[in-house]
Amino acid sequence: MKNSYLIFSTILLSLQVAAAEAPMPSDKPPSYEVECASCHMAYPPSLLGQKNWQSIMSGLDKHFGSDASLDLKNQTEISQWLVKHASTRKKYSVFTPENRITKSSWFIDEHDKVKADVWKRDGIKSPANCLACHTDGASGIFKEKNIRIPAK
Ligand code: HEC
Ligand code: HEC
Repeated sequence: MKNSYLIFSTILLSLQVAAAEAPMPSDKPPSYEVECASCHMAYPPSLLGQKNWQSIMSGLDKHFGSDASLDLKNQTEISQWLVKHASTRKKYSVFTPENRITKSSWFIDEHDKVKADVWKRDGIKSPANCLACHTDGASGIFKEKNIRIPAK
């Protein structure tokens, strides 16, 4: 029993340190999927720090050119959950311009091989469209072997 628990925690630990994983926390409220995944994927909270999430959640009426405002109950529930699971790792928790994951320095570094015209392909359209290339991004898996870049 004790041994298998140890092995299990070691596996969990190594998953957490791997940069390519940003798993969705298991206590995700249903409201997150309903309210925050209708226009784009449900971004894993660990890809931004607390300050960016607070800033996003306090400006939902002017959200990247859309109105994504919520009633107070959902707004509070989602905000608290995002802040709880925001990244505390230096790399991901640095305050990013425009509250964008895609404007963070780690994102720009990791994607330096993607040429400017590739982002504009019809099958991609925007760097924020993670799922166009990261086929298992919805499960928080961003590993190289799970990437397929649309040819058009
Ligand atoms: C009405 C549509 C809509 C809803 C609902 C919506 N968003 Fe967005 N969101 C957008 C658009 C449009 C963008 C910009 C996408 C792009 O640049 O391609 C965006 C971008 C984002 C980004 C930045 C992506 C990047 O570039 O790194 C985050 C983070 C985000 N939304 C979080 C949320 C959260 C949290 C919620 C729920 C409270 C939410 N969104 C609900 C439309 C929406
Ligand atoms: C045009 C396709 C494309 C889009 C869209 C895209 N990525 Fe990537 N992503 C890549 C490529 C290519 C790499 C580099 C893989 C490599 O060389 O290791 C990468 C690398 C990554 C890595 C590092 C993986 C590792 O092995 O360490 C993460 C994390 C990541 N992307 C997250 C995202 C997130 C989050 C989004 C959306 C906000 C996104 N990506 C949008 C293609 C894309």
